[in-house]
Order: sequence, then C-alpha cells, then structure tokens
Amino acid sequence: MSKNGRGLGRLGLLATLIVATIVAGMLIALVPIADPAAQAAARDDVQSRIVGGSIVPDGKYRFMAVVMNLDRGRSREARRWCGGSVIARRYVLTAAHCVVDYRPSSLRVAVDRTRYKSNRGVTVGVKRIRIHPNYNPMQSSQYDVAVLRLDGKARRSRNIRVVGVNDTRFEQTGQPVRVAGWGGVRAQDPLSLVPPQVYPNAMREVGVLAVDNAQCVSDYASIGSQYPSLLVYPETMLCASAPRADSCQGDSGGPLFAVTPNGSYVQVGIVSFGYGCAQNGYPGVYTRLSNPSINAFIRDAMATKR
Ligand code: ARG
Repeated sequence: MSKNGRGLGRLGLLATLIVATIVAGMLIALVPIADPAAQAAARDDVQSRIVGGSIVPDGKYRFMAVVMNLDRGRSREARRWCGGSVIARRYVLTAAHCVVDYRPSSLRVAVDRTRYKSNRGVTVGVKRIRIHPNYNPMQSSQYDVAVLRLDGKARRSRNIRVVGVNDTRFEQTGQPVRVAGWGGVRAQDPLSLVPPQVYPNAMREVGVLAVDNAQCVSDYASIGSQYPSLLVYPETMLCASAPRADSCQGDSGGPLFAVTPNGSYVQVGIVSFGYGCAQNGYPGVYTRLSNPSINAFIRDAMATKR
C-alpha cells in the first residue's frame, strides 16, 4: 500500500469517527425523550402490528361495540374495558366476565366508532345485563357470554349475524376467522417480565385459523391443571390462533367472526381468554356460539323484553 493510500485510509477513519460521534450524540440526545410506550402508540396509527394485525378503517365493521366501564374512573382511557358486537338494534353481545361484577348503570356502549377516543358513532347506556345461567367463574371459564340490552337504539350500526345452532362450517380446523377490538397490541408471555401493554386508539383486526379441538384441549391441559379458569372445554369453547397473531387483554367480549363467500359476516365466537397473548402453543380461546345452550341463551335474551 502506498503512503498516500494509507493517508486516505486514516482520513477515512477520521471521517467515520466524526460521523459516528455525531450519530451517537444524536442518539444520546434522543434517548431521554424516547418513551417506548409513546413511540409504540405513535407507530400504532401507521404500522400494521397489533398482536399481528392491522388497523380497521372507519365504517368497515359497523357491528363492533366498545363496552366502557364508568366505575373505572373519569377519563375515557380509564373507562376502556371490553369489546362487544351489535347483534340486534338494541342488543350487544359480550363476554360474561366483562360485565358480571357490574350494574347496567356502570356500563356504556359505543357503536360505529373506530377510534376509541373519537366521538363518532352512538353512545348508549345499558338497561339490562343478562349472563348465561351456567356461567360460574369459580369453576371454569365456560359459558362466558352475556347479552346487554341497550337503553337506546344502536341506530347507526349494522348487526352481525350470530352463527346458527350446530352450524360448524366456520369452525373446522384451519378455517380462517377474524377478531377485532381495541385490546393490547403486544404479545405477552405471562412468565417473563413484560413491558407495559399498549392499548391502541384505532380498532384493529387480525386473521387467525380455527384450531383442532383435541389439540387445544391438550395445549391447555397442563396450565389448566394449575388454573382451572384456563381449562378448555371444546363443547362450549373454540380456539383460534396463528403465529404471532392473537386477541389480547381488552379484546374480551369482542367477536370472532367469519367472512362468508358473499361477503357477509357471521359471528362464531366471543373473545374469552388465553395464556398470555400470541404465545406459541396457547391459542386464543373463544366462547362457542354454535353450542346449543349458548345459542339458545342469546336468542332468548333478544326475544324477552324484561
Ligand atoms: N380475558 C381477556 C380480556 O378480558 C381476553 C384475553 C384473550 N387472550 C388471548 N390470548 N386471546 O380482555
């Protein structure tokens, strides 16, 4: 190598060092204002990642409902609670565990709203909460279903059709289904120290696949032997998963639904539970709406005025 070459090399090194110093300086300057939760929340509006999903555009799923809990605090954020679906003008389907401890006056439902903090859509009170008579959280998570009768009409929304009794077309292993909500966007491993969950402003959806019943039972057999609320009963529950995709905390009560060949929506499940979120070997578990007792409960709740 020539002297000259080495000189250039040294110059190059010097230049690299200067650039590196400037870049490092910029990074250091950025670190104190780089709050990861704030960054994730900002990214949320542009990036397609919930636990694996994407933002739902305004007006796409008009049957989606947010169940707010007024007992949780005064701010909109504090009241963020569960998802739900409009199954008739005056009725919202949700999970029993979302509403079992509350009175109708503690709940408020917003429909036809995509951005949680916006004032779009219609906000209505709840007149009556009906919970499946077999729901017993001390024993298991079975029959995790409730029907809310609204105080007013969810006028601007459109209903979703609840699957028929024993109509298992959309629950066959490998069938694609979707789940939507305002729940946490981070995969969660319950065993490790997780960073705080991030709750999006925009509604998100993710595609998952129906999981074989026996597979899901065995996936949860071990953890369920320690925590009975995590046991899977395939008659009353159905499971769905996909790699790095899942519903999560705050999505509870929201619909698991299929898109039919003619583009209509059929609800087959209600977000119920999971071990962590998007954990390998732990599918999301949903209330099975094709179960005859669950299906009859929903139809009955919609038919009786009281
Ligand atoms: N129980 C949760 C809720 O109240 C829903 C959890 C769903 N978890 C899952 N991994 N799919 O919001």
